[in-house]
Formats: sequence, C-alpha cells, structure tokens
Amino acid sequence: MIQATLHQLRVFQTVASHGSFTKAAEELFITQPTVSNQMKQLTQTVGMPLFEQIGKQLYLTDIGRELLASCQEIFEQLDRFEMIVADIKGTKQGKLRLAVVTTAKYFVPRILGYFCQKYPKVDVALEVTNHQNITRRMLENQDDLYILSQPPEDIPVCSEALMNNPLVLVANKNHPLAQKKNIPIKRLTDEAFILREQGSGTRQAVQQLFAKHKISVKVRLELNSNEAIKQAIAGSLGISVLSEHTLYRESSELELTTLDVQGFPIQRQWYVCYLDGKQLSVIAQAFLEYIQEYTQKMDIASHLVSQ
Ligand code: PGA
Repeated sequence: MIQATLHQLRVFQTVASHGSFTKAAEELFITQPTVSNQMKQLTQTVGMPLFEQIGKQLYLTDIGRELLASCQEIFEQLDRFEMIVADIKGTKQGKLRLAVVTTAKYFVPRILGYFCQKYPKVDVALEVTNHQNITRRMLENQDDLYILSQPPEDIPVCSEALMNNPLVLVANKNHPLAQKKNIPIKRLTDEAFILREQGSGTRQAVQQLFAKHKISVKVRLELNSNEAIKQAIAGSLGISVLSEHTLYRESSELELTTLDVQGFPIQRQWYVCYLDGKQLSVIAQAFLEYIQEYTQKMDIASHLVSQ
C-alpha cells in the first residue's frame, strides 16, 4: 500500500461516496479516464478488486469497504493536522463554537458578522439558549466560549466582564402604572406577571429580587422566549422583566414601556467565559479579544448618548 498515493485514495473515496466514476470526476474537476486510470493503478497495488459493477451500479467489494474505512481515518487525521498547522502559523482558519444566553443574541450576531468579515475563513457555530443549558454545555466542554450574565460558581471558568445588561420592568403603554414615578416594589403583588421558564438567568435574577423584598407575584404565564413575552405584554396579558437590550427598536412599535419601580433596573453584566485550563484555539482567542474591544466601544458610546 505504500505505493498508493494520497491522490488515488482521495479519488477512491469520492468514487465510493458517489457510486460513480463520472460523478467523482465532476466533483474532483478531473476527467473520467483519469479516474478510471487512478482506480486501475490502486486496484493493482491492492492486488484485489475494489469495486464490482452490476448493471449500471457500482458496488464496493469487502476489501473496498475496508479500504474506505481506512481512507476516512487517514483523511480525518490529515484534517486535524491541517488545523494544528494553521494554529501554529497563526492563520485564522477553522471553526469557532460559541454558546450565548438568549439576552445576548441581541448583540452577539452583529459582532460575529464583523468578525467574519475580517476573517472570512472562519466558520461559526452559534448556540442561543438559557442560562441552565449554557452551564450544562460548559460541563460537557461543548464550545470554545460562552456569553452569559452570571458566571457559574461551581464550574471553574475564566471570565471577563463585557457590558451592562440592565433588566427592566416592561408593561404595555396603556398600563395604569405607566405614568407613575418611583412605584414601591410591593405594588407589584397585585400585577399579573409573565415569567421566563425555569433555568432562565433572567427569571433567577427576578426571583432573587422578589425574595429579597419578600414579595410574591401572581404568575399568569411562563414563556421561554423574550420575543413571545414582548408580544404577550403588547397583548396586555401582564407585565414582565426583560433585558433592556431586547427592547431596542421594537418597543415603540409594540407599544411597550418600562415602569419606574423601586429596585429596577436590576443591574447585571454580560461576561465572556471559557473553561479554566482550556487551551483556546487561535480563532477563539482572536474572537475573545475582538468582542472585548468591540463591547468596550459600545459601552463608551452608550454612556455618551445617555449623558
Ligand atoms: P436567560 O439569559 O434568561 O436566557 O437565561 C439570562 C442572562 O442574561 O444570563
């Protein structure tokens, strides 16, 4: 087998996956006689037939199936090696795996867009889910970086603060409390509440605040989507607590407003985290620096606007 070339193995793998010399030739941008020739030479090297033709259909022989399994292993190893070389060279090429809480989806995709314009060879996998699912993914080491509001205390992580994430009390513009100022928090006990699902970090922050003030509210509805909550408030089903960032642009269209209740906004921050001891890839490291720089600028800009 030492005489078989990598090119022959690639051609063989492509023929096997399509079951056709013609399709393999098309995929590899070579001629059909070249494919036949390469397969003839490989068959001679192996010393046994790799394919069997029945009618128009091409089938792998037993030894052909064995060779296909070996090819997959060889090419997987080579792909891995390529990534290591790219890492060492510092070229930004490969995959970035990110998982973010639902409130962060209002700014992360845009930053990712700019990042990918700068590094077009980077592929991104972005998971958007709630706090509890993010911590489960952390435990399973599924991603390179995580963005959330409350870094877990029971998982060793490195975390860097990114930006403020204030949680505000949102109501329909026609709500009787909409025009009132400095409303005592106890007043909320009379209100129908829409809460995020169990496992949501937003819900946890709200419950902590209510526990601190010893109040319990009437939960009318539980929803696992910030967008659905906004629609429910617009439909006068109740009031809710949401990240202020979920309200940009649409709040006036949906006729939503924020209520001036004591204890609100709940001051939170987003953090970017990764598992302690994890060797970040060149791409993950580049994104980490990029998002820190970008959010710093965003924070400065929002301070200037609010002054
Ligand atoms: P979540 O996000 O409510 O979707 O869990 C909260 C957070 O900002 O941590």
